[in-house]
Amino acid sequence: MAPGLNEAALSSYVRDAVDRVADVADKTALGALRAELTGRRSTLTGWHRELGSLEPEARRALGRLLNEAERAITESIDGRDAALSREARRAQLEADRLCLDELVDRPVVAPLERGHRHLVTKTRDELEDVFVAMGFQVVEGPEIETDWYNFEALNLPLGHPARGMHDTMYLDGTSESVVLRTHTSPVQVRSMEAAVRDRSLPLHLVAPGRVYRRDTPDASHLVEFNQIEGLVIDQGITFADLAGTISAFTTAYFGEDISARLRPSYFPFTEPSAEFDITCTICRGARCRTCGQTGWMELGGCGVIDPAVFAAVGIDPTRWSGFAFGFGIDRCAFMRHQVADLRALVDNDVRFLRQF
Ligand code: PHE
Repeated sequence: MAPGLNEAALSSYVRDAVDRVADVADKTALGALRAELTGRRSTLTGWHRELGSLEPEARRALGRLLNEAERAITESIDGRDAALSREARRAQLEADRLCLDELVDRPVVAPLERGHRHLVTKTRDELEDVFVAMGFQVVEGPEIETDWYNFEALNLPLGHPARGMHDTMYLDGTSESVVLRTHTSPVQVRSMEAAVRDRSLPLHLVAPGRVYRRDTPDASHLVEFNQIEGLVIDQGITFADLAGTISAFTTAYFGEDISARLRPSYFPFTEPSAEFDITCTICRGARCRTCGQTGWMELGGCGVIDPAVFAAVGIDPTRWSGFAFGFGIDRCAFMRHQVADLRALVDNDVRFLRQF
């Protein structure tokens, strides 16, 4: 039963209705409330009916207030309806949102790793740098060589016992006249021949490159390894120039606390010949297991060019003299970085390679 129609009742009814509308949280509840507040059985409809029994003046005044109240309630319901629609739409958009920066925060693909030069390549480049700074030129020669360049011209004729030191790999079907070079010394012969042809003596060069020997790989031997050859031909060159060059190179590459020593030895293409050792890089000369308690490690061979080699390439030994040396690039890397096993250089295990 509707309360009696008067101004106070109307305004408190409107306030109450607007509050209830504002509290509604969903469209279904709002639909029900709209029917309750404005439908045929609502208080407002009851009051409209009541108007008919009033004096004309009061009817007009209360009729206007009643219409205003009805408009206010309808507006508040419509406003709430629109607000609920907006909220629902926002919730829908939020739920449908695609997070496009996801890949940046948590990459699905692992980042690409940057590679670098192999330790042996780096060592070769560093050795070249040291010799270039000393005035040497860098040259290269073929890895497949003829018997002439690898042996014959180096005073190692067929049947020479020193050939046995080389454990040569021959190429099939070449009747043992073509080999995988066993050292970088054939580049000496090629360079001297070219210099005679071009009349371009003197020569100061280094020749780095890969060499091959039929050997069983172990911690200090590889079948395929790298050497760097040095060759100087000039006027008045003596063994002292060779010793000074080896010594200067050793400190430049290994450091001031590492020195070199020469031991008499034999190579068919040099006379006199020597092998050169450097201070053990593990114990720094204090004698350890790696250097066999000597304090020294063997690095390579060297000597003054034998006149027989000059004769083979046509250089006048009364006018020119020279020296040569050769040593392992892999051995240098091994000694300088204290690698325990030469085979690690060719295993290509990235956990090893990454360290250099
Ligand atoms: N070719 C020699 C070797 O491989 C090293 C060497 C080079 C010795 C030059 C003397 C002069 O064992």
